[in-house]
Amino acid sequence: MCGIVGYIGKKDVRNLLLEGLKRLEYRGYDSSGLVVFSPTGFNVIKRIGRVAKLVEATSKNSAKGTLGISHTRWATHGGVTESNTHPHVSSDGKIAMVHNGVIENYVEMKKFLEIKGFSFSSETDSEALSNLIAYHYAKEKEDGEDTSRFFTAVRKALSHVEGTYGIAVTCVDYPDELIGARKGSPLILGVGKGEYILASDESAIITHTSNVVYLDDNEMVSMSRDGFRVVSAADEGIDPVINTIDWNIEDSEKGKFEHYMLKEIFEQPAALENAMRGRFSDDGSTAIFGGLNLTPRELRQIDRLLFTSCGTAWHSCLVAEYLIERYARIPVEVEYASELRYRNAPLDKNTLVFVVTQSGETIDTLGALREAQRRGYRTLAITNGVGSTIAREADGGIYQHAGPEVGVASTKAFTSQLLIVAMLALYLGRLRDMSYTDGAEMVKALRSVPNLVRETLKQDQHIKAIAAKYAGYADFLFLGRQAMFPIALEGALKLKEISYIHAEGYPAAEMKHGPIALICEECPSVFIATGGEIFQKVLSNIQEVKARKGKVILIHSKSCEVPDGLVDDTIIIPDAADSVMPILATVPLQLLSYYIAVERGCDVDKPRNLAKSVTVE
Ligand code: G6P
Repeated sequence: MCGIVGYIGKKDVRNLLLEGLKRLEYRGYDSSGLVVFSPTGFNVIKRIGRVAKLVEATSKNSAKGTLGISHTRWATHGGVTESNTHPHVSSDGKIAMVHNGVIENYVEMKKFLEIKGFSFSSETDSEALSNLIAYHYAKEKEDGEDTSRFFTAVRKALSHVEGTYGIAVTCVDYPDELIGARKGSPLILGVGKGEYILASDESAIITHTSNVVYLDDNEMVSMSRDGFRVVSAADEGIDPVINTIDWNIEDSEKGKFEHYMLKEIFEQPAALENAMRGRFSDDGSTAIFGGLNLTPRELRQIDRLLFTSCGTAWHSCLVAEYLIERYARIPVEVEYASELRYRNAPLDKNTLVFVVTQSGETIDTLGALREAQRRGYRTLAITNGVGSTIAREADGGIYQHAGPEVGVASTKAFTSQLLIVAMLALYLGRLRDMSYTDGAEMVKALRSVPNLVRETLKQDQHIKAIAAKYAGYADFLFLGRQAMFPIALEGALKLKEISYIHAEGYPAAEMKHGPIALICEECPSVFIATGGEIFQKVLSNIQEVKARKGKVILIHSKSCEVPDGLVDDTIIIPDAADSVMPILATVPLQLLSYYIAVERGCDVDKPRNLAKSVTVE
């Protein structure tokens, strides 16, 4: 949510910032702006709309420099206007700053600063911080302080902030210093040779260096062309750990695909293989996870699991509930992280908390994790965000290794989470009652998934044709039972997110208790039924829809027998074990929503109002 790029070095900063912003655009795309620090001072350019608008505006500007900061905005405080666009320059012209997060006490800050003679030209909370830094900077000057005046001013201003921030700041009197700081919003430092890049995530850094320092909350970094130093809020020096990014730039390019979303849908077989690599026992009867930091004995003492997350990842948690309860016989509870963090939920002392998050940065998930830790619970994270805040703060966890996911609508990260929770069900099951033979069978089923997904993807053109038929409808129902219920929720969410069609996911049998009132010729239903003992019951639910003239698309597995003429359209997925069916059933739903959105002319990779990583509450 909001993307930041800052640079100090020897290269032309303008192109570098723009290139970084393009890569971070999925974090927010309401407006964007940059400051180039040229020999004449700050050159500020801002534009409403996509980064492409800023690129165009910047090409007409001749300012050159090797230090600068930039921002792509997802609006929180104040509408989408040029004056609300970052960077915000303090009213005395001394400080330029970009900010990701929310300054909660900005109203009182603003009142104080107005009395002190500062003025405001935006409705943002961020401008208050840039003026507050300028206030402290001026004060330091009066107090006769020295070369660290800029740094001290930032530190002092931040000590008054309530809320969250990731910031990049420059001062007009310091052409050789760039400052960054974070609390609650991600900020990463790319360490190059004589150059440093500050960014909200690795994708803006990877083309320049793969050496990064993940800043922790309450840390500040000061960079010059000769080096950098990281300090704590108490101004104590910190020994930075330099990590290596484990993916390369091609992984985050669109390649031959028209959209990232389609590319990422087709990357699923590889992402699933990566999630399993090296994670089965030699005897092929169970899963192995190196990072749980819990012994089998400790895990045996756990008698309840709590899964929490947001958005698509929350649907993975619901699937975890079905799979873990079924295969491992451990009760699982699922909570929205945004609710859990403020709810005083009574948890048993033998509860283990799992957070599931693609990015590892979602603020509500982070809040729930911290709340669980504050109460003394052991927390584990399932995340794709290597080095992310949640990965670092959890007591242990499982990396997805799905590779960078750029499309705002999550696809490969979701199915990789589904695979990991199935592996977890196997692992926990084998610690308890699951036999060697059942374990070996499940391992075989899990290993077959990448190929089964490949087979499912062959339906691409068939699904495209179905999408063309249904793209004009305004309402959809997605219906499934048992583990297909969360998949129905995910199908509805995908369609809503990228095509702006109203869609609801429901347990198929529950439809009778309300949503059935919506059924008519104008409201198609997508049923997901993959066999098993409830298949006949789902067929009855379909009959109920057909009796009311509702159109039906049925996603079913190959061996299911569907009466002739019952449904309008079918998408057939391969037969497979129940443990992997949620993955296979998801793929056609992703393609269906993708092609419907394309048919409607929607911007699939950057849907209206959404952001990939939500780092504000
Ligand atoms: C945002 C994204 C969703 C995502 C959710 C949780 O809302 O648009 O696609 O599922 O955040 O993100 P996380 O990174 O925690 O999985």
